[in-house]
Amino acid sequence: MCGIVGYVGKSQAAPILLDGLSKLEYRGYDSAGMAVYDGSKIEYEKAKGRLRLLSEKTHDGATMQGTIGIGHTRWATHGEPSETNAHPHLNEDETIAVVHNGIIENYAKLKDKLIKRGYNFKSETDTEVVAHLLDYYYKAGNDPLACVTKVMHRVEGAYALGIIFADYPDQIYSVRKDSPLIVGLGKDGNLIASDVPAVLKYTREVYFIENEEIARLSEGSIEFFDVDGQPIEKQSKTIDWDVDAAEKGGYDHFMIKEIHEEPKTVRDTLNPRIKNDTVDIEELGMTDEEIRAISRIRIVACGSAYHTGVTAKYVFEDMARIPVEVDIASEFRYRNPILQENELVIAISQSGETADTKEAVRMARAMGNMTLAIVNVVGSSIAREAEKVMYTWAGPEISVATTKAYSAQLIALYLLAMKFADVRGLLPADEMKSLIADLKKLPEQIEMLLGNKERIQKFANRFVAAKDVFFIGRGIDYAISMEGSLKLKEISYIHSEAYAAGELKHGTISLIEEGTLVAAVATQDNIYPKTVSNIVECKTRGAFILAVTTVGHEDIEDVADYVMYIPQTNKYFANSLAIIPLQLFGYYVSVGKGFDVDHPRNLAKSVTVE
Ligand code: G6P
Repeated sequence: MCGIVGYVGKSQAAPILLDGLSKLEYRGYDSAGMAVYDGSKIEYEKAKGRLRLLSEKTHDGATMQGTIGIGHTRWATHGEPSETNAHPHLNEDETIAVVHNGIIENYAKLKDKLIKRGYNFKSETDTEVVAHLLDYYYKAGNDPLACVTKVMHRVEGAYALGIIFADYPDQIYSVRKDSPLIVGLGKDGNLIASDVPAVLKYTREVYFIENEEIARLSEGSIEFFDVDGQPIEKQSKTIDWDVDAAEKGGYDHFMIKEIHEEPKTVRDTLNPRIKNDTVDIEELGMTDEEIRAISRIRIVACGSAYHTGVTAKYVFEDMARIPVEVDIASEFRYRNPILQENELVIAISQSGETADTKEAVRMARAMGNMTLAIVNVVGSSIAREAEKVMYTWAGPEISVATTKAYSAQLIALYLLAMKFADVRGLLPADEMKSLIADLKKLPEQIEMLLGNKERIQKFANRFVAAKDVFFIGRGIDYAISMEGSLKLKEISYIHSEAYAAGELKHGTISLIEEGTLVAAVATQDNIYPKTVSNIVECKTRGAFILAVTTVGHEDIEDVADYVMYIPQTNKYFANSLAIIPLQLFGYYVSVGKGFDVDHPRNLAKSVTVE
């Protein structure tokens, strides 16, 4: 995730760009840059690290002259955070500058073609192809608008672009597809930005740019065009949010905003790793021999990340036939653990900074084992500590209770299991194809579940006064229950426990009273009848049953009091869908109780103490 801004008007551009970027730092903050037309040429500055370093380098923008410019704050995807990889990216003549938020999925193919045509690349980014492609079309005699439309026809993926041409020093071109973009109509100039807060200081009149629309801004005009360069009309909207609310993109809390970002998170973590109907995780640099040699997998993690590990145990063991142990990192550390030869240690962490997980990785390395980190924050400690890194592309997560990072971790783990199963000869090509097809459906299916949120809210409102809630399930459904239970307790402060459904009768069932809420997860066909029996045991003792099951299991309505259905998917991927209503349930109970959802008491987002 990155943030882009642009300004053209009467004032000096660079200070305005820096101010706008400061409101977008939540979108990424590993490097930043600006390009400004200074009256004779495009001048640019970049800095690795937080935005303040770019401010210092340019004396708060004072050193960059000119009243038109574009800026960028980066959250690295392609290429490590560095000045070279920071935006803006320029053509070789430095007459065209581009800032980009998103991922150009076919950049490798385009880059190859451009290299064959004599273009030289400086960075490892996907964005640089856009600068060279614009150059190519411009030199072929097209005007800037035609260049932009031609580029739109060539690139695949997601993008919000800000572009300036030295030959057209009074115009900014901007376009989006699947990445956010707004245009602000200011008094002494006009602006582009990834999000509203970046322009609120200058204007409340905003145009929301739709997919494949182009905006051309100059000091006194804003024009819009479609993907074929035909002019279109757009209506501006007056924003009445305060800056704080706007940073939540109009949502009441970051948590609900982040839940809504899950389809994108799943897509972003998945799509770059699917190539030619197979899983491509070459980024790990693991050879097939190394994969075949794995004798056991040890997963170490804390909190929700640990729960994704529990899911992964079921998936790896069933699909890739590799034994898996899942350890809470703080337990692993102090147990004098035994790692066997060729045991792969996988550390899972959103922040990449959790002290216990980091130390577990260190220990495993010291024992001579291969370590692989699944991490959301580029360049974080755990990412640096582990030998191999697989990033989840969830973007910055602000709410303390994790939602979208959890979903991204699941995807990374499914992909690893599929790759390992494939290399070990356990996944025929047609099965691989069908698994990939099911994975690709997940974002849309999550959208569908989000469409039902009002129903979940109504249900949640009935249980705001609950004292105890039990979550039960078997197999992967047990792993889902663990996360559902954690979500509820961490933000609503209601006591809740997750139990392996078959284990409940060995003690805990004594806690079930008339009206106790039992959330039963039953998505796995092979154990469905067993879970239903456990549901009946609870119901007989007076429990109110909320069932979460897959479409097709409507017979559950005979035993459950309330049912939340999830669409059908492969048995391995049910967690990615079933967790959505449970996250929403936790969220709405907390809202119903009037709590500060994003900042639950006693908790921290990143736990860097033991
Ligand atoms: C904290 C957070 C949890 C998170 C856990 C692990 O407790 O509140 O949401 O699951 O840390 O964090 P990590 O960054 O390692 O995933």
